[in-house]
Amino acid sequence: MSWLTQTFSSSIGRKFLTAITGLFLIFFLVGHVTGNLLLFKPDEGRAFNEYTQFMTGNLGIMIVRYLLYAAILAHVIITVLLGIHNRKARPVGYTKQVPSPHVSWSSRNMGILGTLVLVFIVIHMANFWYSLKWGVVPTVNYAEAGEIKNLYHVVQSSFSELWYTALYVVMMVFLAFHLMHGFQSAFQTLGLRHKKYWPIIRSVGFWFSIIVPFIFALMPLYIYFFRNINH
Ligand code: HEM
Repeated sequence: MSWLTQTFSSSIGRKFLTAITGLFLIFFLVGHVTGNLLLFKPDEGRAFNEYTQFMTGNLGIMIVRYLLYAAILAHVIITVLLGIHNRKARPVGYTKQVPSPHVSWSSRNMGILGTLVLVFIVIHMANFWYSLKWGVVPTVNYAEAGEIKNLYHVVQSSFSELWYTALYVVMMVFLAFHLMHGFQSAFQTLGLRHKKYWPIIRSVGFWFSIIVPFIFALMPLYIYFFRNINH
């Protein structure tokens, strides 16, 4: 059996791949939230549009982008396989399982939280990412950049709807809980549960899981209340 098939078929290997792909997605979130901060710039979306234009035209970024799609797919497929495996391996007969007080709520609900985050990503990409790639997006003309896609307009009109803004805010709560367990779990799987560093990893994970989804949630709220095209 090759190293690759062994990694994919063993439970430890799958956990390892879940951790690696999860950490990659965490890095993506840092980049994504930082770039999207440009939405707060009061320049009618110019900096944001120039940034998204740059992100679509650069070869290095294109490669990272395809790695990202692969990481999302791998993370989902492997966790589903792990879930099926664990369910099969669970001893039957203990019908009433009392949850351990040491296991957090998010840890016990990773399956449902992960599914909700996936639903969010599908809705999100169907709207913004699909529009950018294949949709009909209005263009805008800037002196240096020339005529480019006005993705800011797509974001602005989406978050001018109350239901869409509310959906994003709720989804960011699910993302926060998913990260809360996922962050530290990835480090633990990679064998980094060192007595000295573990409290730091836990604390960084906790604050990361709150701050990043909170900033993401501020984006739709800011547009809805301060840049709404319907108000
Ligand atoms: C709530 C604030 C958010 C806004 C305003 C936003 C905005 C956007 C926009 C405009 C795009 C298309 C342009 C681009 O590729 O940069 C995009 C792509 C994407 N977003 Fe978001 N996003 C948000 C949150 C999130 C979150 C929380 C996740 C993940 C859980 C996420 C995952 C993605 C992915 C995977 C893509 C495709 C990436 C690519 O092809 O480069 N986004 N987002």
